[in-house]
Amino acid sequence: MASYIAHASFLLSTLFTALMLYHSNAQLSSTFYATTCPNVSSIVRTVLQSALNSDPRIGASLIRLHFHDCFVNGCDGSILLDNSANIQSEKDSAPNTNSTRGFDVVDNIKTAIENACPGAVSCADILALASEAAVSLAGGPSWSVLLGRRDSLTANQAGANTSIPSPVEGLSNITAKFSAVGLNTNDLVALSGAHTFGRAQCRLFINRLYNFNGTGNPDPTLSSSYLSNLQQICPQTGSRFNVANLDPTTPDGFDNNYFSNLQNNQGLLQSDQELFSTTGAATISIVNSFSSNQTAFFQSFAQSMINMGNISPLTGSSGEIRANCRKVNGS
Ligand code: HEM
Ligand SMILES: *[C@@H]1O[C@H](CO)[C@@H](O)[C@H](O)[C@H]1NC(C)=O
Ligand SMILES: *[C@@H]1O[C@H](CO)[C@@H](O)[C@H](O)[C@H]1NC(C)=O
Ligand SMILES: *[C@@H]1O[C@H](CO)[C@@H](O)[C@H](O)[C@H]1NC(C)=O
Ligand SMILES: *[C@@H]1O[C@H](CO)[C@@H](O)[C@H](O)[C@H]1NC(C)=O
Ligand SMILES: *[C@@H]1O[C@H](CO)[C@@H](O)[C@H](O)[C@H]1NC(C)=O
Ligand SMILES: *[C@@H]1O[C@H](CO)[C@@H](O)[C@H](O)[C@H]1NC(C)=O
Repeated sequence: MASYIAHASFLLSTLFTALMLYHSNAQLSSTFYATTCPNVSSIVRTVLQSALNSDPRIGASLIRLHFHDCFVNGCDGSILLDNSANIQSEKDSAPNTNSTRGFDVVDNIKTAIENACPGAVSCADILALASEAAVSLAGGPSWSVLLGRRDSLTANQAGANTSIPSPVEGLSNITAKFSAVGLNTNDLVALSGAHTFGRAQCRLFINRLYNFNGTGNPDPTLSSSYLSNLQQICPQTGSRFNVANLDPTTPDGFDNNYFSNLQNNQGLLQSDQELFSTTGAATISIVNSFSSNQTAFFQSFAQSMINMGNISPLTGSSGEIRANCRKVNGS
């Protein structure tokens, strides 16, 4: 009898655990649009491919939108909302203003999807799909994108100011911001590998070139040849809006050169170089492993993109499917 009760309670607790996992984890699904928009991935890919033909940087810009979306109230398309009577746009937050780009391409993707499958696909999911397409079209890994996110009715500009990592706040603060959204050190290093493509403006790293941390000298962790290249792109009297490649070796390709750059003291942002140059940091061995094994990087990157894409999605009947990514429906 006692063993029967123990057995039944084991079964009940197993069932309970399974239900909890189902509720916390099984809401997004790779087949979410199988009946309502079966071709959605190839529509996203086709529009992105044509945008890449005129702007080789655009894939990088789109994955960054997904990152900045997911870190603020979860992956809910909040970053895409324009200012309006009720919305203080995240586009005007410190990390995004004069920096995020690609909103017009998101609109083009949305239009193409609405033509094929009206009212079915969220803007939050478009960012997740465009990120995978951007990475795979640039030579990186493919993965099965989890879908079923819905779009927010609000934006959180204050949250964007405080939750998105800054390139100059130091590794421990950045690690804490990842941890706050459930991402660990492996995710931090893998996802930083997205800086294998795209550009950054001089204003975001120029302190490293001339007056690092108030020393009056360049950042000592910058290789001297890389320093002089960067000083040419970003002269002290030049425009702070000039841009440099985040990966000087293969600027538009998705590969593991980002990690060998860090080993060679060629990380562009302070936050990049600190992953390798911070004495005693847990990130160093991960950089070394991704630098020596591209397969290991690609596998981790794909898994970490899924982890990032799982940050607090709106699902079920929460939120809505926006008709226009820039506006809440009916506003
Ligand atoms: C670890 C903390 C991170 C910091 C401090 C950081 C910071 C930055 C900064 C300052 C820029 C340059 C923006 C500009 O010049 O306008 C940038 C660009 C970029 N970031 Fe990050 N980032 C981080 C993580 C990530 C993650 C997790 C992803 C995606 C998975 C990502 C993807 C990108 C891409 C692709 C670009 C280039 C965008 C373009 O060319 O338009 N970053 N990042
Ligand atoms: C899927 O979308 C692509 C790109 O828009 C298009 O070329 C293809 O014909 C579509 N396939 C179907 C079955 O609708
Ligand atoms: C954005 O850039 C423009 C110059 O292109 C500048 O006038 C403006 O002050 C910048 N805005 C912010 C918030 O930095
Ligand atoms: C966010 O930061 C921007 C730029 O620093 C500032 O103009 C804005 O007022 C801040 N918004 C909130 C809600 O804190
Ligand atoms: C790191 O975060 C702490 C706590 O928010 C803050 O006081 C400190 O200024 C941050 N460090 C840098 C370098 O921004
Ligand atoms: C910047 O300078 C402060 C004070 O001198 C020091 O504590 C800090 O570690 C320095 N930061 C870096 C990244 O070198
Ligand atoms: C590279 O990483 C992959 C994936 O983790 C692993 O299966 C493989 O054994 C590694 N290759 C080497 C040479 O270590």
